[in-house]
Amino acid sequence: MSHTYKLIPLLLLSFAISKMSAQETIPEVETLLSKMTLDEKIGQLNLLTPGGGIATGSVVSENVEAKIKAGQVGGLFGVSGPEKVRQAQEIAIKNSRLKIPLLIGSDIIHGYKTTYPIPLGVASSWNMELIESAAKMAAKEATADGINWNFSPMVDISRDARWGRISEGSGEDPYLGSAIAKAMVKGYQGEDLKNAYTMMATVKHLALYGAVEAGRDYNSVDMSKVKMYNQYLPPYQAAVDAGVGSAMTSFNDIDGIPATGNKWLITDLLRKQWGFKGFVVSDYTSVNEMTAHGLGDLQAVSAQAINAGLDMDMVGEGFLTTLKKSVQEGKVTEEAITIACRRILTAKHQLGLFDDPYKYSDTSRPKKDILTAENRAAARKIATQSFVLLKNENNVLPLQKDAKIALVGPLANDKNNMLGTWAPTGDPQLSIPVLEGLKNVAPKAKITYAKGANITNDPELASRANVFGLRVDIDKRSPDAMIAEALQNTKNADVIVAVVGEASELAGEAASRTEISIPKSQKKLINALADTGKPVVLVLFSGRPLTIAEEFNLPVSILQVWNPGVEAGNAIADVLFGDYNPSGKLTASWPRNVGQIPIYHSMKNTGRPAPTHTFEKFKSNYLDSELSPLFPFGYGLSYTTFEYSAIAVDKKKIAQDEAVNISFTVKNTGNYDGEEVVQLYLKDEVRSITPPKRQLKGFKKIFLKKGESQRVTIPLSANDLKFYNSELKFVAEPGKFIVFVGGNSNAEMSTEFELE
Ligand code: BGC
Repeated sequence: MSHTYKLIPLLLLSFAISKMSAQETIPEVETLLSKMTLDEKIGQLNLLTPGGGIATGSVVSENVEAKIKAGQVGGLFGVSGPEKVRQAQEIAIKNSRLKIPLLIGSDIIHGYKTTYPIPLGVASSWNMELIESAAKMAAKEATADGINWNFSPMVDISRDARWGRISEGSGEDPYLGSAIAKAMVKGYQGEDLKNAYTMMATVKHLALYGAVEAGRDYNSVDMSKVKMYNQYLPPYQAAVDAGVGSAMTSFNDIDGIPATGNKWLITDLLRKQWGFKGFVVSDYTSVNEMTAHGLGDLQAVSAQAINAGLDMDMVGEGFLTTLKKSVQEGKVTEEAITIACRRILTAKHQLGLFDDPYKYSDTSRPKKDILTAENRAAARKIATQSFVLLKNENNVLPLQKDAKIALVGPLANDKNNMLGTWAPTGDPQLSIPVLEGLKNVAPKAKITYAKGANITNDPELASRANVFGLRVDIDKRSPDAMIAEALQNTKNADVIVAVVGEASELAGEAASRTEISIPKSQKKLINALADTGKPVVLVLFSGRPLTIAEEFNLPVSILQVWNPGVEAGNAIADVLFGDYNPSGKLTASWPRNVGQIPIYHSMKNTGRPAPTHTFEKFKSNYLDSELSPLFPFGYGLSYTTFEYSAIAVDKKKIAQDEAVNISFTVKNTGNYDGEEVVQLYLKDEVRSITPPKRQLKGFKKIFLKKGESQRVTIPLSANDLKFYNSELKFVAEPGKFIVFVGGNSNAEMSTEFELE
């Protein structure tokens, strides 16, 4: 009896070990590991960039070739092209003792050479198949050019448009963000990482990077666990559930510990709670930056990072230069280094690099796979779906294809700002300017062009935005002369199209702004154009939600186009002339002013909710601003209109872990065929921690011909009713749930059910 008693835990333990080994050990990797010296293992943890890529930190790696030969490099980024990648692999295979192939990384955030819209734009399509296919196309192009590992998807939730990197993610919502994270991982990695057309994805930046204080890049984050679990962590976990191969830590600290050295984050949460099996890489020099954070010298912070569970050190070489010493001094175990090395070798094995280190070096592929007509057509389609029609004054859009158009604005005949931020693999010179696109799509239109304004007249702002080879130039002519020329240009026009907004690098990394309005130089132009009394269409570029209350109040139409990518001009023309009816919806609320930030649809009621349209003292509101955003989450117009009716729920009462279906009818009541993103929001009436006013819990993108109706059903799963309670348990609590359905987060049509 007593024997059996002891045997059970032992059996369980050996089962657990064998389960672990089944998941984590690969004979080929183990054999290799058994031959490796401590130095060689540390070498695998080192990720370098020879300088061909983008350096976002102060360091660019030196003596890369010698280091590869010495077995001191596990991966490279900033190297591309099948020949160059072959050369790099040959150095490793022919000259290093153990002939271990290299990971070849890159930042392919929104397309490789066929750049498609910035992620915030792509997200606005709410089209998961499209998003997956976009990532698949990026993988096909990048792998043709030698890349096997991508630093994307970036899934940081952000509710702060001051933060320039909001452009790289999916916006404010964890439910939508999770769906997008999954679609992107699937698109990059496909079914089989050994397939030469797929690459390993990296979910970044773990974690909470989008919540940096005051929207200032690289700043601190301090957040309750309840908020993290419910609002910010789900997209990272969704990527893990989708099988993402690697994760990148973020620059910020969490609970006072930088993510890169945060054991709770990397080991307890990511690996133990979420079951992540891949490897974790730091961000660019983020190990070293723990010194500036105030956690000690390079040896101390490197030891902290590896002990926290970090596997690979990006560029900073803290691991390479200090880990051995830390092992000798007993600060780090050799076992910790072996584990990290095993994870990196496992990734190389998963990619099939041990079978064929040159599988991504097929010189015939770039021509077949990169920037093909098919890919450019796909980028154009993705772009059209990313645009959000914010306002259509007097239904001036779509335009007639033979109209007389005065095209104006600093972005109207521009190639530099079409791709958007973080497009280092794209070539701005290949992009289609708006002027060219309008001519392509409407050859009969009579188009005149004048620049009208600089992107900004502020030399300081312009020079700060001059990065990555992109320049924001200031025209020498006087601002008034430029406006006068533009006005002259409008004289014979039926309609004015003004292409305005942010330069690419006014958003993105290290591009936080405290003012997020359209730059002053352009505001002046817009006002002058509106004063002409002619119909004005603003085609608005930006990498973030902007504050455009003033422009919204002018008699103008507004089409938000983000940074649309290489097919910018063609895609914009497709929508302006009605070849594609806009269907995009905002995935981040647009504030009226910076003071409202952070602003998002799932805010809480508070104990003193304010009335929606009027002011009442001693309620939760502002003296000097309305409470609501200018445009709510989920908002976007179409050239047609949709009517929602007849909402029904299939069960009025459900048991725990039971699902429920919500059905309703959508009718296209306007004059154009079109797509609508139908959205479902859920309100948990009473629960143990204060609930959000409502939360997105379902959506579908449907196509309806004019006059057509469709009965739509959106299921709510048991998990959709759950949340993390104050003990961080994922639970659904009994009580009433209200469901809202409609075309944006202000949806009013509702029904309810009860959870027993
Ligand atoms: C960014 C990452 C990027 C890395 C490598 C960093 O500055 O934060 O998102 O993957 O550089 O280029």
